[in-house]
Amino acid sequence: MTRSTLVVPAALLASSLHVIALAQGVKPRPQDTDWVAPAEEKARTSPVGKSPEALERGRKLYLKHCSDCHGQKGKGDGPLARLHAQRTLRPPYDLTGSEVQSFLSDGEIFWKVTVGYRKADKVIMPAYKVPIPADEDRWRVVQFVRTLGPERVQVLN
Ligand code: HEC
Repeated sequence: MTRSTLVVPAALLASSLHVIALAQGVKPRPQDTDWVAPAEEKARTSPVGKSPEALERGRKLYLKHCSDCHGQKGKGDGPLARLHAQRTLRPPYDLTGSEVQSFLSDGEIFWKVTVGYRKADKVIMPAYKVPIPADEDRWRVVQFVRTLGPERVQVLN
């Protein structure tokens, strides 16, 4: 089989999965970003097992380091959000939506939190490798971020 006959079905499959996702009302990531995790980072999985303790630690770290921008419930409406958006023209994301919950892997969220995002001289999102130095703690934050999605809302309602 030639290379192109292999590539085409893969591309078709990818685009039909995309169409299914769209049909379900799931939005893909905006394409205007160069903040994309390398494939090996996307594929990483958490070494921290799920537990109430891990979640509680993740929640505390989130409230300390993330909620000023992303809001206590992750809606992107923290007290710093508006000022930050004015300064950088990039509003903090709503972490509860499908852009994050369906389209980002745990490894990708971990990578983004670890390295942050700078563009030109602006800090769009701070890097947390230094403020949250233990890898396990950043994975606990990822575990907490996962509870901000719609599943959580259903459980609470
Ligand atoms: C100073 C404000 C600020 C703080 C504090 C902050 N973020 Fe963000 N975050 C942003 C902005 C702005 C974006 C959107 C970046 C863009 O436009 O691509 C973002 C995007 C994200 C994304 C989505 C990335 C994507 O591609 O969909 C995740 C996940 C995230 N932040 C998690 C966190 C976590 C977890 C913390 C705390 C450890 C945190 N953020 C702290 C401003 C902040």
